[in-house]
Amino acid sequence: MKIVVVCGTNRDGALSRMLAKQAQSEFDKLDDIDTDLLDMNELGAEFLGPKAYKEPTPEITAIVDRFLAADGVCFIVPEYNGSYPGILKLFVDMLPFPEGFDSRPCSFIGLAAGQFQGLRAVEHFQQVAGYRNAHIYPRRLFIGNSFKQFDFEKGKLSDDELCQRLSQNANGFVQYIKALKS
Ligand SMILES: Cc1cc2nc3c(=O)[nH]c(=O)nc-3n(C[C@H](O)[C@H](O)[C@H](O)COP(=O)(O)O)c2cc1C
Repeated sequence: MKIVVVCGTNRDGALSRMLAKQAQSEFDKLDDIDTDLLDMNELGAEFLGPKAYKEPTPEITAIVDRFLAADGVCFIVPEYNGSYPGILKLFVDMLPFPEGFDSRPCSFIGLAAGQFQGLRAVEHFQQVAGYRNAHIYPRRLFIGNSFKQFDFEKGKLSDDELCQRLSQNANGFVQYIKALKS
């Protein structure tokens, strides 16, 4: 089974990237799981070109194909201006219709500096994924107060309970995908 973890921002120094790597490592611990980390900082200027939609460059196609290879996608969604980052929507707009999301299992982890823990960002993004007929894993994880949540030396969440919830989230999402397949 292939799990793609999406880091939903291209921001240099984003905490979402650290969280995405930790989430990927939780999936890597599980049996028979192959993972890929698709980072929005991999999107080059070609994604902004007006022809990107109808005439994608090989670079765009290569990134889109990595997404399409997923049996399940775990989105790390940072909250930017009360929603999810524009770069993530740009990427979604480059996915083919309907196979980009159609019946694809998706899970969502919100991350925000503020006390609302990325709830708005995740719910806005879920509207898009739901509109495109994704299978939405209902157990979401929300992390607030982001700048105090990480052990920067270890490159992971500092709170044991949150680490455990991230682990449970990965395990639960894989069980969900298996149940859908059967
Ligand atoms: C452009 C921008 C807008 C942001 N807007 C919000 C916001 O509306 N609410 C909030 O709680 N945090 C906001 N933040 C802080 C991020 O949620 C915070 O940096 C968090 O760690 C997730 O983003 P990151 O992965 O870029 O670090 C914003 C950050 C940026 C860069």
